[in-house]
Amino acid sequence: MDAHDIRNSYLASLEGHGHTVIDRANLVPRGDTSTLFTGSGMQALLPYLLGETHPAGTRLTDSQPCVRAQDIDEVGDNRHTTFFEMLGNWSLGDYFKEDQIRWFFEFLVDTVGLDPEKLYVTCFIGDEANGIPRDEEAASIWQKVFGERGVSNGIAVIGSQADGDARGVHPGERIFFYDGGENWWSRGGSLAATPIGDPCGPDSEVFYDFGPEKQDASFGLAHPASDGGQFMEIGNQVFMQYRRLDDGSFEELARRNVDFGGGLERIAAASIESDDVFRISLLWPIIESLQELTGRRYEDETASMRIIADHLRGATFLAVDGVRPSNKEQGYVMRRLLRRAIRLALSLGLTENFFEVVVPVIADLYAADYPEVAASREEVIAVLVKEENAFRRTLEGGLQTLAEWEVASITGRDVFRLSDTYGFPKELSVEEARRLGIEVADDWEAEFALALGEQRERSRGATRLGAAGLPGGATA
Ligand code: ALA
Repeated sequence: MDAHDIRNSYLASLEGHGHTVIDRANLVPRGDTSTLFTGSGMQALLPYLLGETHPAGTRLTDSQPCVRAQDIDEVGDNRHTTFFEMLGNWSLGDYFKEDQIRWFFEFLVDTVGLDPEKLYVTCFIGDEANGIPRDEEAASIWQKVFGERGVSNGIAVIGSQADGDARGVHPGERIFFYDGGENWWSRGGSLAATPIGDPCGPDSEVFYDFGPEKQDASFGLAHPASDGGQFMEIGNQVFMQYRRLDDGSFEELARRNVDFGGGLERIAAASIESDDVFRISLLWPIIESLQELTGRRYEDETASMRIIADHLRGATFLAVDGVRPSNKEQGYVMRRLLRRAIRLALSLGLTENFFEVVVPVIADLYAADYPEVAASREEVIAVLVKEENAFRRTLEGGLQTLAEWEVASITGRDVFRLSDTYGFPKELSVEEARRLGIEVADDWEAEFALALGEQRERSRGATRLGAAGLPGGATA
């Protein structure tokens, strides 16, 4: 089953369980300035998870395109992307743990066809100080569903991630209890960081085991919550059953919700037994087109091709959702993604424009399932190509300037000059300098901000002068 089929079967299976498929949210959150981008399926549903009545009922599902720009520096490895789709389903005071766990397990095993022997799950260990019990209920449901398939279902009490790194997995273990840093969901992240007034609760995560040869031993022994590579999280079921009170304590909610989020790309990677998400049907055609354009092999240029593919896919979806490259907020992140992709492509020998070849490949991967992608295809290509043209005019000049400076180190003011003269996103200049072995001053960001402030001041002065000095004043 490819990624496209996994998405559609997921939605169909949830519809079969009485859910309404709702429209996805725009990548730019509406009426919510807390984040630049929609980063999870639940974000747009927060008012309903807090108690408002949803017009489509108490069982909802969707596949939500998400952008997590904070992960940009991780892209290049086998699993991180700035853009991804989150499969989501929600119970608003309706079904709870038993149905959620069983349905997700059946979807993974019976629909996607994953081997249940390769699934490992985690549950919340409990927090005595706050009077929150261990989530025995979730664990016993997991024991039942694994047991029914004749799969070992032993329980292990781990605690923190560090405890797991030292302990690893013992034979027969399948269900792992971790602490509030791992298996608790709130908008603040961990149990300790749960914001006052917010709904929250224990979560139960599902991991796929890619085999011991994938574990990077520098992370310690392999266990589900390890970052070592053997296990990859493919879904998270949040059981929203508490609310944090003003005094910091937790009370049980009268109405308990389920908030499920599954990584489409990761489930698709598990289904083809590849721990490299770039091998899935929604990403591999982009890599193929890069191989063709550059005449180079993915095996030799893995990180660069992953970054280019990810960044162009993210920027394409941002354009579909109305974002345009600019120097501010969402537009700046989009610009950074595009310019970084162009810079990396140059290092693969792509000196000519290539967006007009790759962006249509991306659009066509999504056009059938996202009518808005089909409808805006030509406009999106034009927006991205325009940005490519603008940057290509100055790219080589900027790179040359940096190389010609022949300095051992640069400051934030140098970074500002590259940004101001050549349109280099500041992070790109820093990356580029480091690539050339040039040191970058620790306080470069502060210096950059100072230089930018000074320039703004100068241009305000120039505007005032210009306005006063011209006939017609400010309107001239
Ligand atoms: N909201 C949960 C998450 O983002 C499902 O992991």
